[in-house]
Amino acid sequence: MVFAAGTTPLGLFAELRSRVASGAIDLTGVRPVQLDEYVGLERGDPRSLWDWLSRELLVPCRVDISAAIRFELDADADEACAAVERQLDAAGGIDLAVLGIGPNGHVGFNEPPSLPDSVTRLVRLDEASIVANARYWGSVADVPPEAVTLGLDRLIGARETVLLVSGAHKREILARVLEESPSPEVPASFLREGRLTVIADRAALP
Ligand code: PGA
Repeated sequence: MVFAAGTTPLGLFAELRSRVASGAIDLTGVRPVQLDEYVGLERGDPRSLWDWLSRELLVPCRVDISAAIRFELDADADEACAAVERQLDAAGGIDLAVLGIGPNGHVGFNEPPSLPDSVTRLVRLDEASIVANARYWGSVADVPPEAVTLGLDRLIGARETVLLVSGAHKREILARVLEESPSPEVPASFLREGRLTVIADRAALP
């Protein structure tokens, strides 16, 4: 299973934590797959998206992190991406991807323009993503310029994909995802080629 970091899924994560704590659900059998990560971070850097996800979801929900398919970024980023693809092939792909969308239409760090056959890869962040993420890291200059991401191809091919969308600042891009023909300028729009469920709050609904 793939879970996006970010603000949008925090309510979901809180609900999952509480259901795990009460024994209503058991996530110990889940094998987590990393969606994306900044490149060039030191181990333990608080900007790490994996650390965020571990803190908010994986550790409190007792998910087995040692079984994770994740980017090993201590070495070469291209090799780390190729290794993730190989492990996903061996695992039979992704069962469930719970994703967010950037105001620029990105999903993971598949920045516009991204084609539906985009593979897992190293990317340079779009200016819009750097601006949108600056709030987490203090300033635009603190946002790492490069990242790795699961490819759109993998996300479209997931057995189930759930796209969570929250807030009025996402309304315009959600309208484009739902109402326009899929296009590289709105990478998340290609999720419609897979088995997609969109869950949006009232503010984000077109
Ligand atoms: P957000 O991030 O949930 O923090 O808005 C979404 C994204 O950039 O994919």
